[in-house]
Amino acid sequence: MDSDARDRAVAAHYALTGLTAAIRGGLARLGDGAPTVDILGAVDEFHMGGRAATKALAEALGLQPGARVLDVGCGIGGTARWLAAHSGARVEGVDLTPEFVAVGRALTEEVGLAGQVNLQQGNALALPFEADSFDAAVLLHVGMNIADKAALFAGIAGVLRPGGRFAVYDVMRVGGGDFGFPQPWAGGPDVSFVETPAAYRAALAAAGLAPESEVDRRALALEMFAAMRARMAAGGPPPLGLHLVMGPDGPVKIANVVAALEAGVIAPVQIVARKG
Ligand SMILES: C[S@@+](CC[C@H](N)C(=O)[O-])C[C@H]1O[C@@H](n2cnc3c(N)ncnc32)[C@H](O)[C@@H]1O
Repeated sequence: MDSDARDRAVAAHYALTGLTAAIRGGLARLGDGAPTVDILGAVDEFHMGGRAATKALAEALGLQPGARVLDVGCGIGGTARWLAAHSGARVEGVDLTPEFVAVGRALTEEVGLAGQVNLQQGNALALPFEADSFDAAVLLHVGMNIADKAALFAGIAGVLRPGGRFAVYDVMRVGGGDFGFPQPWAGGPDVSFVETPAAYRAALAAAGLAPESEVDRRALALEMFAAMRARMAAGGPPPLGLHLVMGPDGPVKIANVVAALEAGVIAPVQIVARKG
C-alpha cells in the first residue's frame, strides 16, 4: 500500500457519519443545552485515560498563558480545547480525518473557543506551519497510524522553536506477542505501526528532540476501561462516551485493546522531549 492509500485507509477507519448528531443526542440526554469543555471531556479525548491523561501531559509541558501550541492528529479537538481553556494557550490542531475536523470546529465554536483554537484538515507528515513557530507540541494516540516516526518527529521538530517541548502519548509495544484486531486505532495491521518506547526515543533524538521524561500509563488505561465496562454492565452506555467515536464495533475494539494491555503487550506511554 502506498502512503496516499494508507492515509485514505486511516481516515476511513476513523470516519463516522452522524457523530455530531450522536454527541448532540448525548448532550440532550444529559439535559444540558449547550456543551462545555468539561462536559465534552467524556467524548472528545480519544485516548487511554481521557482527560486525566491530558491533564498529566499538560503538567509535564508546563505551558504558559498565551503559548502557541500544536496538536498533531487532534481528532475532534478535545485536547486542544482543554489546553486552551485551562492553560490559556492558543492551539492549532491538524487532523487527517475531515469528519473529525468538522465536528471539532463546530464544538469549538459552540464552547466559545474559536478565537483561541483553530482546527484544520491536514497530514502530520506535511505540517502547514512556519519553522520554529510553536512553543510546544502534543501528539496523542496518533503515531500508531504512522509508519515513519523519524519523518513525523522531524516535521514536528521543524515547527517547534528551540527550547520548545514536545509531548507524545502513544500506544507502544512494551512486551512480546501479538494483539488482535480491530483495535481503536486500526481495523487491521496494514494501518497499525505500534513501536517500542526505545524506537520512539531513538526517532525523537534523531529529530533533535531530546527525551526528558517517560511515563507508562497502563494502570490509568486499565482503570478507564474497567470503569467503562462497569457502567455498561450497570445501565448501558452513558450519554457521552468514547463508544460514540469508536463506532458500532467499539465493544470488540475495547475487548481487544484490554486483552493486549492485560497481557503486557502494549501500554500507553508518555514521553516529553525538548528541542535543543
Ligand atoms: C485515536 S485518535 C486520537 C485523536 C486525538 N489526538 C485525541 O487524543 O483525542 C487518532 C487520530 O489521529 C489522526 N491521524 C492519523 N494519522 C494521521 C496523519 N498522518 N496526520 C494527521 N492526523 C492523523 C486520525 O485522523 C485520528 O483523528
